[in-house]
Amino acid sequence: MQTAFLDSSKLDEAAEYLKSGEVVAFPTETVYGLGADATNEKAVRKIFEAKGRPSDNPLIIHVASVDQLERYVETVPAIAREVISHFWPGPCTLVLNKKGPIASSVTGGLETIGVRMPSHPVALALIEKAGVPLAAPSANSSGKPSPTTALHVKRDLEGKIKAIVDGGTTGVGLESTVLDLTDPKKPTILRPGGVTLEELEAVLGQVWLDPHLRDDAAVPKSPGMKYKHYSPEKPVWVLPESIDRSRAVLEQLEKEGEKVGVLASDQWLEQLKSDQRKSCSLGNENMPQQAAARLFSSLRALDDEAVSVILVEPYEKKGIGTAYMNRLEKAASRIL
Ligand code: TXA
Ligand code: MG
Repeated sequence: MQTAFLDSSKLDEAAEYLKSGEVVAFPTETVYGLGADATNEKAVRKIFEAKGRPSDNPLIIHVASVDQLERYVETVPAIAREVISHFWPGPCTLVLNKKGPIASSVTGGLETIGVRMPSHPVALALIEKAGVPLAAPSANSSGKPSPTTALHVKRDLEGKIKAIVDGGTTGVGLESTVLDLTDPKKPTILRPGGVTLEELEAVLGQVWLDPHLRDDAAVPKSPGMKYKHYSPEKPVWVLPESIDRSRAVLEQLEKEGEKVGVLASDQWLEQLKSDQRKSCSLGNENMPQQAAARLFSSLRALDDEAVSVILVEPYEKKGIGTAYMNRLEKAASRIL
């Protein structure tokens, strides 16, 4: 299949492909999504084929309005309206009881559905033009770091999908928060993401974490969480919190002949004197949102370099740092 590259003035063409049951990658404020008409079973299956994604892992549907949401969920409880009024459009996916003509492979057999309204203007315009909700996982090959540029999508999926809409680099850089509201008394985060626990608690009071986020032994309720994820080809190690211990790890590996790539904040890179090594900056260490925005693209960039292991600085698990560490730990083969 020939993959068309469309700039964001070509949304009519992209919408036509979607209406005719084809798969199109498009930018959102989190990462690039791989979209198909969520009401068309055949179209949705093409997403799973292109990504090589296991079919029991349900997809998020993307809507452009609350009216559109109401067509595909049984009810919108008061707590969902509260979340929507604060965080939509934006990186917060709501899991609610489903209804209406959604293709069964979108939900992987579940009675619930994950829905979000993205805030990226290209995404919103595309959903409106297509006139249907778009099922869209991240537009990477299954298991790879999620794409934050159209080029990442091209590297993973060229020849497998009809078109890629280029909307530049995405802003948040990590996927949306998945918030289960099927029990309105117990709002539960299934996947940490662009909207933080702290932000949700400021609006809702207590918010729960799915047990697997606290304890790896528990069975994850968000089916996607059990698969290996976000990994480059090279092994990724999460460094210890202490920079002195991290320096010792690095020097030991180099003594053993490893070619080390370092992904860390400007402050760490300076203290590790990493200008002689392959390295990528996560920005100012006091701005974890920069680290979140750069994590996936930096893992891809270091993977392309002549390195044998990628060492990454840990951030504190609070605010957006929670989502950063969640993705990093899933990508990692060792956590030091
Ligand atoms: O930011 C994002 O959410 C991106 C952009 C493209 O919107 N999309 C994304 O989709 O990350 P995906 O398919 O890579 O991740 C969807 C996550 C998975 O962990 C999946 O298991 C969970 O949402 N999920 C979807 N529907 C669910 C449901 N009904 N119940 C529980 N978890 C669900
Ligand atoms: Mg994904």
